[in-house]
Amino acid sequence: MSMLGHIPRTAVLAVAVLAMGMAGCAKEDTGGTTASGVPLIKTGSLTTCTHLPYAPFQSKDASGKVVGFDVALIDLVAVKLGVTQAIVDTPFEGIKSGADLNSGKCDVAAAGMTITDERKKVLDFSDPYFDATQALAVNTGSQVKGLDQLVGKRLGVQGGTTGEDYIKAQVAEKKLDIEVVSYKDLAALQQALATNQVEAAVNDLPVWNEYIKANPGKVAVAAGFDTGEQYGFAVKKGNAELLKAVNEAIAAARADGTYDKIYATWIGEKPAA
Ligand code: ARG
Repeated sequence: MSMLGHIPRTAVLAVAVLAMGMAGCAKEDTGGTTASGVPLIKTGSLTTCTHLPYAPFQSKDASGKVVGFDVALIDLVAVKLGVTQAIVDTPFEGIKSGADLNSGKCDVAAAGMTITDERKKVLDFSDPYFDATQALAVNTGSQVKGLDQLVGKRLGVQGGTTGEDYIKAQVAEKKLDIEVVSYKDLAALQQALATNQVEAAVNDLPVWNEYIKANPGKVAVAAGFDTGEQYGFAVKKGNAELLKAVNEAIAAARADGTYDKIYATWIGEKPAA
């Protein structure tokens, strides 16, 4: 017979449940506010939502650490707030819809994300921090030079992105018989191109430039689409305190040369202004 034999079973259970509940409470972090008045979902961290991989803006290095252009810029915001950046990898859909920020999954979104009017309705964007266009990538040796040569063929895009929207609009407008195939992330899109599941693939130009650097001789940019996009970091609608800190960090980095250094590290030669 156990030592608890004489204690009613329900009492033991109640104490156990209570203890578990208390342990849960003790661990739960409801966040707080930094000395400068910026609310954060976790004390001591600036939690960033992103969608991996998206080199050179965010991807894992050999040790598994998430690094890149966006990561370096948001690190500046974290330093300014006196906290450290913690990165959460999550599908792009929840980032661009505002769902992740609204549900408190993260404080800021940094995902090579283009500022669009549609997204502005559900997110508050920082000042633009990067200019981008779309590009059509093909396997080396391909004769494809543009959308016209893709009629009757498959063209890959990344789901939920501006590249997907742009291509779907072009295909509809020009009544092109192209099968547009959406992939869930950049890695899947690049894999589809490498294995000839698609004849060509569209994504942001800097991403293709990075891929070509990492995989020399495999892929080439066949055409560019000057979509005139600008990337912005995003916060939950109404989070003016954090937005201000983000904008100040970007402005300071632009003013003191840090932005240029980060650009040189992750992107390369800066285009003439
Ligand atoms: N710039 C494009 C957009 O905003 C693609 C962004 C994809 N980013 C990512 N981290 N997966 O739609």
